[in-house]
Amino acid sequence: EKGGYEHFMLKEIYEQPSVIRDTYRGRLLANKGIIQMAGIEDNLEKFLNAERIIIVACGTSWHAGLVAEYIFEEFARIPVEVEYASEFRYRNPIIGPKDVVIAISQSGETADTLAAIKLAKERGAFVFGVCNVVGSSISRETHAGAYTHAGPEIGVASTKAFTTQITILTLISLRLAKAKGTMSNSDFHRYLQELEIIPEKVQEALQTNDVAKVIAEIYKDAPNCLYLGRGYNFPVALEGALKLKEISYIHAEGYPAAEMKHGPIALIDEKMPVVVIAPKQGHYDKVVSNIQEIKSRSGKIIAIVTKGDTQVRDLADHVIEIPDTIEALTPLLTTIPLQLLSYHIAVFRDCNVDQPRNLAKSVTVE
Ligand code: F6R
Repeated sequence: EKGGYEHFMLKEIYEQPSVIRDTYRGRLLANKGIIQMAGIEDNLEKFLNAERIIIVACGTSWHAGLVAEYIFEEFARIPVEVEYASEFRYRNPIIGPKDVVIAISQSGETADTLAAIKLAKERGAFVFGVCNVVGSSISRETHAGAYTHAGPEIGVASTKAFTTQITILTLISLRLAKAKGTMSNSDFHRYLQELEIIPEKVQEALQTNDVAKVIAEIYKDAPNCLYLGRGYNFPVALEGALKLKEISYIHAEGYPAAEMKHGPIALIDEKMPVVVIAPKQGHYDKVVSNIQEIKSRSGKIIAIVTKGDTQVRDLADHVIEIPDTIEALTPLLTTIPLQLLSYHIAVFRDCNVDQPRNLAKSVTVE
């Protein structure tokens, strides 16, 4: 049932090209220049009239929500807030009929997310679900929704659920951008075409497996690790750190790269590995100067770069190359080597990759 892979997690990492394709199948019609999703079409007015979108989720799904915040605001120019469901539900939040809530949950059973949805509904908001498990509590409790088609995710650490959530949320933002006229026609078509070929690029990103394994062996005994990214890749840094924590039990933190100098830089010494997400597009020069700051304090740099990069290569201790794509779609590619890196580190440490200690696949208690 692991399809020849040693662990479900690895199998699920490798399924990403095909499940991303499953997720956009029938929804993304690149040649016709159309995005069609019943749950959005039926409720288009609600989305178009929304004064803001509030995303509620937990864990990895919350990270997908953060990526979506950047995408929605850029594409559709709708203000977005991303909330931990557990904080939202207990805060007496200001929310009403002019808000659209998007609840993201792989399992569709997360207790805090479910409670946040009930609260939002009581206050008159329209609630849209992004779930993976068909017929789950959250998919039933929401007014409308769109399923990711990631298939069963067995490994406790979420991988393919994350990238398919980002795929769905990107489709929704593009659909809204089209309806609102906030994106030029040529950009819209460029995104549709790029999304259509993104599974091939994810496939190519999976070829980083060997280099990720080599790097994993070098840093497997590190007690700490930092992950840095900016813009669309700041949430990817958070997700990379979470993946490492949960399966290898190494303490890891994700930060927006520019926040380094406001504290975490004090941690940098020759023993600290720092994973920096530095694709060619998106604040590249800023990230390069962040890398220089780490380097001058003897930190060890593992950089995720766009294929062909030379500038970061000169500075970093290790580079992992991913294919080029449009900036807003880079999270779908930069995530891949980070998943592989944590996977191999956990395997080298003899950790139970598929069932890490203290964790459950769905958190049905608050
Ligand atoms: C991380 C992980 C958790 C879940 C979180 C939300 O790898 O699996 O952080 O993402 O418990 O779960 P769902 O998406 O099922 O609501």
